[in-house]
Amino acid sequence: MPEPTEIEVACRVNGEAVTLQGHPMMRLLDALRAQLRLTGTKEGCGEGECGACSVLVDGELVNSCLVPLLHARDTAITTIEGLATNDDRLHAVQNAFITYGGAQCGICTPGMVLAAAALLARTPEPTLDETRTALAGNLCRCTGYTRIFEAVMQALRT
Ligand code: FES
Ligand code: FES
Repeated sequence: MPEPTEIEVACRVNGEAVTLQGHPMMRLLDALRAQLRLTGTKEGCGEGECGACSVLVDGELVNSCLVPLLHARDTAITTIEGLATNDDRLHAVQNAFITYGGAQCGICTPGMVLAAAALLARTPEPTLDETRTALAGNLCRCTGYTRIFEAVMQALRT
């Protein structure tokens, strides 16, 4: 039997039921950006090294440039656009990034914020070392990381 060239994948993105279409090996990154116009998910390296494309899949931080569309079936995906609460209040990490200057050019910021949010969801009071480790897969060319770590640590207190 020939391999399917296009599949339909039902999943939930930011709480909404959606159907994505494409080759089974299409990158989730591309499906989110091109089909759902969720362009907050950025492409940096395209090779799983920088974390710019980070999203949460069933609560786990993943590099969406490495996730084939096929693996998104029946999952719940959160992108940066879905991190704010239903009443549009920003997540504590987002507020802290604004307050403490955790973003400069912004390319790394959505992935960095999602990585921090995932950390706080599983470890509500991480140490600085735990924070550094949790964000180690997210690269930033601009900030030198100090303000990012400060923002995450301050988000604990809000
Ligand atoms: Fe996916 Fe760099 S673009 S890890
Ligand atoms: Fe520019 Fe992080 S703010 S890469």
